[in-house]
Amino acid sequence: MATNSTDPVIRVAPSILSADFGSLSDAVSEVAPNADWLHVDVMDGHFVPNLTIGPSVVSSLRKHSDLFFDTHLMITDPAKYLEAFRDAGADGCTVHVEVGETEQLIAQMRSLGLRAGVALNPDTPFEAVEPYLGLVDLVLCMTVFPGFGGQSFMREVMPKVRLVRDALVARGLTVDVEVDGGIDESTVVEAARAGANVFVAGSAVFGQDHPVEAAGSIRAAAVGAVSGTVSGR
Ligand code: DX5
Ligand code: ZN
Repeated sequence: MATNSTDPVIRVAPSILSADFGSLSDAVSEVAPNADWLHVDVMDGHFVPNLTIGPSVVSSLRKHSDLFFDTHLMITDPAKYLEAFRDAGADGCTVHVEVGETEQLIAQMRSLGLRAGVALNPDTPFEAVEPYLGLVDLVLCMTVFPGFGGQSFMREVMPKVRLVRDALVARGLTVDVEVDGGIDESTVVEAARAGANVFVAGSAVFGQDHPVEAAGSIRAAAVGAVSGTVSGR
């Protein structure tokens, strides 16, 4: 398949959830050569049954990295924290449609100068995000139920990824379609062929002996899936 200038950019976003929290800046520096974005998983112990990091960790990491911080807010009340994450150095934030008030949250992200994303859990239908397609920069289709790294890729989400991409193309919209959960060198191929272009990978990057090479292999597999050839960037 030939690519053209309007094709979405393939990006790999290593998720620090699977990195060593005791030496996060080293982990980020190590993977940086093959990371297009850095995926930062924020959990509040309420929207998901796990607790992770807050704005202070983002702020500390910001001093060590120039990467785009793709901040995934798995929290019940994002309105309360968006400004703090922006001030800490987040470049983009993604809120879940399941928490509601989506249009107001998108407007808030925009007014803060953040790149705006909306996320869907695996069992949340396409229709839940359809009204916002023209308002956002990114749609995240979760390929696991959020909360933990290392879960298995849910390929039953692929038809929804295809619906999202087709709807964006039909509307002439250039919006990133991100997948998150169970992405590795093999599943990334399925997700790329379904229309995703941003690939979050935690355990398949930081759980490997050579994270930077693992991230490069995932990107190469995604590029190969949509171009018919296997190549790096
Ligand atoms: C899960 C998080 C993911 C997680 C993915 O709730 O949103 O970003 O880090 O981890 P893997 O790639 O191991 O499934
Ligand atoms: Zn995530």
